[in-house]
Amino acid sequence: MPSIDRPDPVILGHLLSEHRELFQQLSALRTMLAAESPPGCERLREIVRAIAALRGHLADHFRAEESGGFIEEAVARMPRLGSAATEVLGQHGALLYELDQFVDRFADVGEAPCAEAWRDMHEAFDVFMQRMQAHERAENAVVQQGYNEDLGLDD
Ligand SMILES: [Fe+2]
Ligand SMILES: [Fe+2]
Repeated sequence: MPSIDRPDPVILGHLLSEHRELFQQLSALRTMLAAESPPGCERLREIVRAIAALRGHLADHFRAEESGGFIEEAVARMPRLGSAATEVLGQHGALLYELDQFVDRFADVGEAPCAEAWRDMHEAFDVFMQRMQAHERAENAVVQQGYNEDLGLDD
């Protein structure tokens, strides 16, 4: 059971730094997909593998959030946040599913014309990244309100 009887800005900072780290990983992948000319098929396969690895990392992150922690504590402190917390945690499954679909769709990228696959990957990943960022923002907002703490969030 998580401790819900003490505020801990250091631990809150940990959540925030995890979100920053995830954002950096997503940005690095997006940069790879935003090359000016189509990368080769082998490069695209590498990117698909990196996205599959990110999926594993995200699943761990989501599990930690769901298994009692900052969000649960935020709600314990401020029960009116309950529905926002339920909504934000309820997005995890769809986010993972979206990445699974992505990996399945592009698993055989080497067999298709790669320039076309690259455009499709770029587009699909941008959509995912926007959804993911909106999710993390909503999550940060719940935690920030629950702890009544200025986490120094930019967005
Ligand atoms: Fe989350
Ligand atoms: Fe998160």
